[in-house]
Amino acid sequence: MPRQAHDDRLVFFHAAEDSTFRAMHTTPGFPTLRIVDHPLVQHKLALLRDRATPTKIFKELVDEIATLMAYEATSDLPLEPAPVETPLETMIGQRVMGKKLTLVPILRAGLGMVEGICRLVPSARVGHIGLYRDHDTLQPVDYYFKVPSDAAERDFFLLDPMLATGGSAAAAVASLKRAGATRIRFLCLVAAPEGVQRLATAHPDVQVFCAALDRELNEHGYILPGLGDAGDRLFGTR
Ligand code: PRP
Ligand code: URA
Repeated sequence: MPRQAHDDRLVFFHAAEDSTFRAMHTTPGFPTLRIVDHPLVQHKLALLRDRATPTKIFKELVDEIATLMAYEATSDLPLEPAPVETPLETMIGQRVMGKKLTLVPILRAGLGMVEGICRLVPSARVGHIGLYRDHDTLQPVDYYFKVPSDAAERDFFLLDPMLATGGSAAAAVASLKRAGATRIRFLCLVAAPEGVQRLATAHPDVQVFCAALDRELNEHGYILPGLGDAGDRLFGTR
């Protein structure tokens, strides 16, 4: 999908205090959206979209892209000073402030993103939200919810490879907020303009990180050009 279609602008976010900068795109009209434009993410995403990519490779690619996206989505986590004894002397290092980050995959397809992020943030807690999209109405149907009880004190990364109509994401965010969560980011791989808009209208406080903003939805609510049914491709259930 040519980036020009959404008139992207390259912006730079200051990452921590080491004078390094990360490149992400924002898109006028989608103020909550950050497109992770790292070359490795884009390369792997093209492989993921390929209809010939088999389940095993698809799973590995989702895992790897999730790791790279999490690196960007954690680039502004607040730090606090922490004393460290090196073999030579004591110094003040830094550690991430606050309670452990909580990952919440939306079942099923969000599960494919968990391990890749846990590799970067091994102490992360993992909640689960069970939702599926009714094939006829495209409305989300929920069947499971479990997150840590002290949700108000935690940062949440809600995970789902696909943001299509936005119904599932908006419902999942609403469930998290009902449980007390206030700091929520949504990480997906492919987003449709309709979904980004719907989520931003319902939850303007939720920043969305994606690898690509695609063109549109088809009449069945599938993202074009997209990558097909993420759950089926991950778990081989087509
Ligand atoms: C897919 C996807 C999202 C949802 C996106 O899940 O993983 O959860 O659809 O669509 P929406 O933005 O229009 O709500 P699906 O309902 O197919 O369930 P599955 O992961 O169990 O296959
Ligand atoms: N869910 C998917 O898995 N893919 C789409 O394109 C839309 C919803």
